Amino acid sequence: MFKIAVLPGDGIGPEVMEETLKVLAAAQEKFSFELACTNADVGGIAIDRHGQALPEATLELCEKSDAILFGSVGGPKWESLPPARQPERGALLPLRKNFNLFCNLRPAKVFPALAGASPLHPDIVGQGFDILCVRELTGDIYFGQPKGREGSGPDERAFDTMVYTRREIERIARSAFEAARLRNHRVTSVDKANVLTTMVLWREVVVETARQYPDVTLNHIYVDNATMQLVKNPHQFDVLLCGNMFGDIISDECAMITGSMGLLPSASISESGFGLYEPAGGSAPDIAGQGIANPIAQILSAAMMLRYSLDRGDAADAIDVAVARVLEEGVRTPDIAAGGPAVSTREMGDAVVRALHDA
Ligand code: NAD
Ligand code: IPM
Ligand code: MN
Repeated sequence: MFKIAVLPGDGIGPEVMEETLKVLAAAQEKFSFELACTNADVGGIAIDRHGQALPEATLELCEKSDAILFGSVGGPKWESLPPARQPERGALLPLRKNFNLFCNLRPAKVFPALAGASPLHPDIVGQGFDILCVRELTGDIYFGQPKGREGSGPDERAFDTMVYTRREIERIARSAFEAARLRNHRVTSVDKANVLTTMVLWREVVVETARQYPDVTLNHIYVDNATMQLVKNPHQFDVLLCGNMFGDIISDECAMITGSMGLLPSASISESGFGLYEPAGGSAPDIAGQGIANPIAQILSAAMMLRYSLDRGDAADAIDVAVARVLEEGVRTPDIAAGGPAVSTREMGDAVVRALHDA
């Protein structure tokens, strides 16, 4: 029996989580294992109900659990609060730091059936591409100190500190090289070593770490060029190794070139293997409450949870296959329908459950 902390959060979070829990229930039945799922408030809804984005009870539940299944947090309603109390900085970042979730895996794979949903020209998408973005998640300008504001008037200043230690870079580089060994043995490290001292160290440490992985080919790319190459020729990439900030930006681009932000799952993992699993996208306030969000990113995040934290690769594979099958059948939420007929969040969830039963 595995204990799962389920934190749906805000916006489309609860909508896509509901469908994911249905898929997990079907997977448990099919593969005979048990999950004890307990819901807790996080983000804006937790601010509304308990006065803080990460209530003590939610943190305690996460600490007692084998994994965290996270929806998304944030939205216009909480944007005027002091920054540190907002859902993102008050809940999501502290969760990542508290559990030392340094390694964020964001797999961007084009489902063959969805090649037409990509905004890229069909000649560029070709037979599809498969990129794994390995993003460092607990360092960089997100967490570097000092951070702050001072002064007033035209001289008022605000600052964040971009900082990486050798240890932090080596640790995430190893994750990228290990991941490449299970794929096409290529790592492209994304940096800005032509301008930023942090990134000079980044490149040095990545090169040193690569010596222990002679079977993996390493190359380096500046982040501005990387954003361009991704739309010009995504096939050239296998594993993209990024710091926290660049990985945030690059992974949204990776998601969209596969067809939609609603397709990209993610796993945030610690050295001990504890993990938080969440879609790479956010609470999508523009479509929240309409029942049209794509639940696939959340469903595939749950599959990653089964694979990485719960050692149920069998069930994870079956969910991946069920999602691919549903897409082959032509089931589409509006974000991937290219203006054609579309189904609701619930209907997409039902279709995946059906495909899982039939498999
Ligand atoms: P977003 O990812 O929420 O939305 C960007 C675009 O992608 C929108 O047009 C949205 O409709 C679309 N989209 C995202 N997920 C989708 C899905 N499942 N199905 C269909 N379309 C989908 O980014 P944003 O608008 O910049 O941010 C909204 C809020 O979410 C902000 O408060 C932000 O801080 C927060 N956010 C949270 C997380 C998280 O909790 N992990 C991640 C990113 C953003
Ligand atoms: C993501 C999100 C978060 C990030 C925000 C909401 C803090 O954009 O998970 O990609 O910047 O890491
Ligand atoms: Mn992001």
